[in-house]
Amino acid sequence: MGSFNRSLLASNPEVRVNDDFYLTPKDAVREFFENWQDCYGVAAESCWLNPAVGTGNITQVVRERIGPEKIISCDIVDRGGDRESFACMNYFDLHLIPEDQPDYIIMNPPFNQSELFLKKALTEAKKKVIMFQRIQFLESRKRRCFFDAGFLEDVFVFSERVKIISGRTGLPCTSSTICFAWFVFNKYENHETARIKVI
Ligand SMILES: C[S@@+](CC[C@H](N)C(=O)[O-])C[C@H]1O[C@@H](n2cnc3c(N)ncnc32)[C@H](O)[C@@H]1O
Repeated sequence: MGSFNRSLLASNPEVRVNDDFYLTPKDAVREFFENWQDCYGVAAESCWLNPAVGTGNITQVVRERIGPEKIISCDIVDRGGDRESFACMNYFDLHLIPEDQPDYIIMNPPFNQSELFLKKALTEAKKKVIMFQRIQFLESRKRRCFFDAGFLEDVFVFSERVKIISGRTGLPCTSSTICFAWFVFNKYENHETARIKVI
């Protein structure tokens, strides 16, 4: 990284918020559940994990939609907010025994760790992994062979810009010009092509 970029990062904290801590708007989470067909088939019995919970916006919507006691969460930083069934820990130190593995993992991890989160989550989720991320997650030569494996089942792309708020300052992030999507992965089925829906 050149010295210009280094000083840009130092002088503009919004370029890279601490641990990529920005809030996932609850409306964007609700919109996902309204459009995800599986939602109707998700039994009230299902168990969920959010491994990068932040202040809990995603977790709270899962409680609304699926059931209040159906989700456990962790985050490397205790950011307050939804703290029921919460552990303050690094997700990569979390080793779930098979009986504790969730059916669904839903998350908005830091962009630069998304692939690592996703690969770990796919070893743990008994059903699916659902991730909120920039659409650019698709755009990587490095990830090409991961996508070739066919785990990507659905992509829900927002037609309108999702307004992203910095969790640190409460102000809109400069990144709100970026297109976001929900990605649904299912490692038990091979999808030569994923479905895409503009929401
Ligand atoms: C984009 S924010 C998630 C925001 C959350 N959905 C919300 O609305 O508050 C990403 C979160 O990942 C957490 N994080 C970063 N690295 C982590 C790790 N290795 N293990 C667990 N959490 C991590 C950060 O602390 C941050 O809270």
